Amino acid sequence: MRIGVDYYPEQWSEKRWKTDLELMNKANIKVVRIGEFSWSLYEPQEGEFDFAWMDKILDTLRKYNISAVLCTPSATPPKWMVDKYPQILQEDVYGRQKLSGTRKHYCFNSSVYRDKCHMLNSKIAERYGKNPVIEGWQIDNELGWANTTRCYCDECQDKFRKWLIHKFKTISNLNKKYGTLTWSQVYNSFDEVMIPKAGTCYETDNETQGQNPGLLLDYYRFCSDSVCSFTQEACEDIRKYSAFPITTNMLDASINSGTGIDYFKLAKSLDFTSWDNYIEFQWGVAEDSAVSRDHALVRGYKKQPFWVMEQQAGPCGWSKMGPTPTPGKLRLWTYSAVANGADTVVYFRWRSALSGLEEYWHGVLNHDGLPGRRYEEISKTGEEFEKLSLHLGKLMPKAEVAIIKSFDSEWSQSIHSHVEGFNYDKYELSFYRALYKLGIPADFVRADQNLSKYKFVIAPALVMAQNSELDSLASYARNGGCLLLTFRSGIKDENNSMLPQTAPGVFSEMAGVTINDYDPLMGKETDVSGVFGKSIAHIWCDIINTTSANSIGVYTSDFYFGKPCMTENKYGDGRVFYMGCDIEDDSMVTLIKYFDKMLNLNGLPYEIKGVESVETSDGKSQVRFIMNHNEYPVVVPIYRRMNDMLTKMPVDSCISIEPYGVAVLKE
Ligand code: GLA
Ligand code: ZN
Repeated sequence: MRIGVDYYPEQWSEKRWKTDLELMNKANIKVVRIGEFSWSLYEPQEGEFDFAWMDKILDTLRKYNISAVLCTPSATPPKWMVDKYPQILQEDVYGRQKLSGTRKHYCFNSSVYRDKCHMLNSKIAERYGKNPVIEGWQIDNELGWANTTRCYCDECQDKFRKWLIHKFKTISNLNKKYGTLTWSQVYNSFDEVMIPKAGTCYETDNETQGQNPGLLLDYYRFCSDSVCSFTQEACEDIRKYSAFPITTNMLDASINSGTGIDYFKLAKSLDFTSWDNYIEFQWGVAEDSAVSRDHALVRGYKKQPFWVMEQQAGPCGWSKMGPTPTPGKLRLWTYSAVANGADTVVYFRWRSALSGLEEYWHGVLNHDGLPGRRYEEISKTGEEFEKLSLHLGKLMPKAEVAIIKSFDSEWSQSIHSHVEGFNYDKYELSFYRALYKLGIPADFVRADQNLSKYKFVIAPALVMAQNSELDSLASYARNGGCLLLTFRSGIKDENNSMLPQTAPGVFSEMAGVTINDYDPLMGKETDVSGVFGKSIAHIWCDIINTTSANSIGVYTSDFYFGKPCMTENKYGDGRVFYMGCDIEDDSMVTLIKYFDKMLNLNGLPYEIKGVESVETSDGKSQVRFIMNHNEYPVVVPIYRRMNDMLTKMPVDSCISIEPYGVAVLKE
């Protein structure tokens, strides 16, 4: 475990570099990420290249024994390029070209831009690919940031048609799968298919919701694939000259959630995953369980330790700032990242910029460049990590629970949400949050991976499941697993069309239930009672008929009073549970306790508000992190004798942790 910073030496005079790097050395900063927005320095005019500035930076880093993650600079095509080749610009859903001014204004499918990237990426990789100062690469920056995954330009339209030909082969097949007989949408050729822009006759003209759901889902898939192939090309450019591992900084902060990129697919091109973690900033404050969930997602895309490539280091915002991190929080957030599987945490940014859109976005140092409170806290963390690393390798949470993450189901649900208040991401988070409160780590996994190592698998709202996913879930349960399915599962095919089977469609037999009637609540509340206690459904109620399942929860109001809302079914050597309704947060915790008791998930006996507890292992040692996200001290029970690696004190029955404090306990 170690720390780093995002560094922009090119924005400061060379005279300053010495001070910066000495301060970094003192703070145990081991690595910097550099160069992600520097196209106009590398190529100030078309065909005119300059690498001397980067040579100098890397030479200087070497003197201070700091390594670098070097980036491909494609996130910011320079102004001359945009002026000369306006066809590289992305178009928004209304068909307006994006302007230069911020970043990410290019189209992932632009062949001109791809050529330009290929040319510069190759030059950079060739020049620096074996430079020992470099330890890794970052592709682009925050792919999909600010709704830029989906472009609506002519070139995208062209490529989308080719993508459709590849998928459907014949236009009549596409017509059948999309159900274009509805409203006379039948196409005579692929050339007639349009990318689904805004502007259909559906209530307002600024939505795409009036478009065919199959077309929309395929367009989402196509755009995600386009980002993946753009990334894959950049990786190939680098791998031709360099063996250093490659990543890209993902965006999964609960506030930024949903780039429209299938990160499982994207991660296939990468050697490791990383993400950018802003917790309290201009646009909101993330709850601690959601941050932990985001770490878990990024860990899950490659099932290995990951990096935080940008970790908040001060008050942040563009036009307005969020609060300054209270003393202790920077350290706390860093430990939380490590507890959840990060092995390097890089702070954004080293020194606060004097100009540009991010002049209010504070780094470790303020604008004056002097070390202050935040620098001291980060140094302390760096020093602690240095010591802990002597005893610990790369840690991963010991997860015995898996939550299925399906981008298809998420996108299908985001296209048409079924009912007011239903959101795939939030629903999934509600399960994770309950597990988190009881200190039970969970992994996010694809349904079609081998699930046998997990004691418990939760598949929230798996609207559609491909055969491989279905087989995998069925064989997991049949061979002794415990699977929890929920409402809005198994009801659609992969073209986003409804299945003709009775709900829950493809899961009906496994769950031992049928649903002939359901109630989208839209503001109404229905009382429920069951193994989760007494609760209230706010979103959805499936009125369940059991075929082979037993009822373990019932509705206690409305016209379906007494009917099952939750069931358990024996399936092969295992069990399949079905939850027909949503329940409130506290009942979710009770529900997880019920499963903990049944399956021995090693959960805490009770929740302590704001306390994050994670059991981890590096393969040799077992380490438990306890983190207090509260502004007051807490006392946390420990059920066995352990040693606090930070204070070097033994801990017996309980441990007291200061506000925003951390304990690292080893058996
Ligand atoms: C993002 C980017 C950074 C920077 C920070 C702060 O996460 O990757 O370049 O802009 O946000 O805004
Ligand atoms: Zn485009």
